[in-house]
Amino acid sequence: MRQSLIMGNWKMNGSRAEGQTLAKALAEGLGEVSQEVAVCVPFVYLTDIREVLASSPIALGAQNVADQASGAYTGEVSATMLADCGCKYALVGHSERRSYYGDSNATVASRFVQAQKQGIVPVLCVGETLDEREQDKTFEVVDEQLDAVIDAAGIDAFANAVIAYEPVWAIGTGKTASDEQAQEVHKYIRERIAARSQAIADKVQILYGGSVKPDNAKGLFAMADIDGGLVGGASLDANGFLQICHSV
Ligand code: PGA
Repeated sequence: MRQSLIMGNWKMNGSRAEGQTLAKALAEGLGEVSQEVAVCVPFVYLTDIREVLASSPIALGAQNVADQASGAYTGEVSATMLADCGCKYALVGHSERRSYYGDSNATVASRFVQAQKQGIVPVLCVGETLDEREQDKTFEVVDEQLDAVIDAAGIDAFANAVIAYEPVWAIGTGKTASDEQAQEVHKYIRERIAARSQAIADKVQILYGGSVKPDNAKGLFAMADIDGGLVGGASLDANGFLQICHSV
């Protein structure tokens, strides 16, 4: 049985005080849960949020990680620094990084490797654009995104990684993939991993992301290969996010 994981992605939103208030509400409101909960917060607030979450089981994540270990990479934040700030997770290859900041599959693979070297669990985001879906290229795109990382890190690396399937057309648009549409791709991803290692395929958590809301979370999380969610917009509202956390 895979443990469920619900992860909030605050993206570039809120002030320090707003983040602290949100984290406090989550810490106080979560209660007893068997699933894991985490929040990916802006780099500059990591240590503030870590303090608020100190006595709660909610884990801390970053939204990106440098593709190099250290050195002259102005503006980047290394995996060592993230570990130092108490991060358990780091997103790699979020579609906003891929599309607005030019992260290639090769860069994403390097970020993944750097995170793992420091004991941070990379959350590899994959997913197709609307154009790609309409051209029937969903599986092809997901394959390329997965293969780049498997080639660089090896399949065994997925024993300590999370995959998030986020169809780009569903992110922040209010359009969610149907439960069946999401399940179809999740199952495909698990089969691709199983072709290399059944043991890892059985174990790896595959999260769904793309307009997860309190009213659609239950249906999505009930699907066989959906092990939780990566929640953007709806993670900025404490009550809504807690409701999603309890939809597992
Ligand atoms: P959304 O974002 O829930 O606002 O669609 C998901 C994500 O980008 O991680």
